[in-house]
Amino acid sequence: MKILSLALAIMVVTIFGTTINVSHCKEVQFIFGDSLSDVGNNKQLSRSLAQANLPWYGIDFGNGLPNGRFCNGRTVADIIGDKMGLPRPPAFLDPSLTEDIMLEKGVNYASGGGGILNATGTYFIQRFSLYKQIELFEGTQKLIRSKIGKEAAEKFFQNSRYVVALGSNDFINNYLMPVYSDSWTYNDVTFVDHLMETLKDQLKILHKLGARKLMVFGLGPMGCIPLQRVLSTSGSGGCQERSNKLALSFNKEASKLLKELSSTLPNANYQFGDAYDVVNDVITNPSKYGFSNSESPCCSFGRIRPSLTCVPASSLCKDRSKYVFWDEYHPSDAANQIIANEIIKKLGFMHDQNQPIEPSPAPAFGPSSQDEEDEQ
Ligand SMILES: *[C@@H]1O[C@H](CO)[C@@H](O)[C@H](O)[C@H]1NC(C)=O
Repeated sequence: MKILSLALAIMVVTIFGTTINVSHCKEVQFIFGDSLSDVGNNKQLSRSLAQANLPWYGIDFGNGLPNGRFCNGRTVADIIGDKMGLPRPPAFLDPSLTEDIMLEKGVNYASGGGGILNATGTYFIQRFSLYKQIELFEGTQKLIRSKIGKEAAEKFFQNSRYVVALGSNDFINNYLMPVYSDSWTYNDVTFVDHLMETLKDQLKILHKLGARKLMVFGLGPMGCIPLQRVLSTSGSGGCQERSNKLALSFNKEASKLLKELSSTLPNANYQFGDAYDVVNDVITNPSKYGFSNSESPCCSFGRIRPSLTCVPASSLCKDRSKYVFWDEYHPSDAANQIIANEIIKKLGFMHDQNQPIEPSPAPAFGPSSQDEEDEQ
């Protein structure tokens, strides 16, 4: 009886809490990231070499035209946000972005090729590194302050959710490439330390700017992305163990860092979630998860590999829901679903039962709709 009334009390508090949230200040997300979270920023950076502007990107999303996502369908952040009942924030460079839309949906600053370090991805010429993304966020804050006033803006930003998901480019398009000075300035241990110090500074800046509810996504087994396999020095096509070890070490240190920041920064709920182990298992035992291929990209330019991105002349695999990787770098929508589920499970995010999930404005097709095309 006592347990039941406690449960009821908690339910009432939950319902009440939700009502307050919705009626006063809508909860939105601000997303900082790389190509795994980009929803159209690089699409507007005309000189960027990291772009997803051409078919067949976006083929399983909305109208099937390229939308800036480096995927056939949804990003991990899309899926997690949907699950939490949050609107999908538009790209910072989306020409239709207004203050009203920012207040309604938040903003996504993620940019393909971007990293924690400024120098990462210089090869791509144009991209927003994390410091740059934070600068852009400060600009957003100014706009919102002049729109709704200083106090309301402060509340709005403290009530928002923040996602920070970068790091693989700092390895793949920096440290592990001999053309970058970081590759000979650091070793495997000191480079991860350098990333952590930089990330710590960046997360502290975000806290100063009001970020209270923040999650950092960890790295997957990046030594197993098709590009790394095809470049593997042994020529075996296997995963690059050194890259995987670096990802594990990044995750371990980032997890520690987030715990530290959560306990030292006032009112900070800063969480870390990675899906390394699950993705590793998917890659090792694809059939267990319903995949038929975990080594090569679904979209590739004939047999010429690595072709850096998926291009209009590329051919597609028969069934996109059975491929772990969409292109040389990026997981498919189906793999992102598994990654998102794992992070949701680890971080304990559950959709609030009192708030029905609204259909997303540009719904991604489920695997079933892919089948018809695949029969061709
Ligand atoms: C990184 O770039 C930002 C500008 O986006 C700049 O303010 C900052 O000083 C740079 N940091 C380093 C370590 O170069």
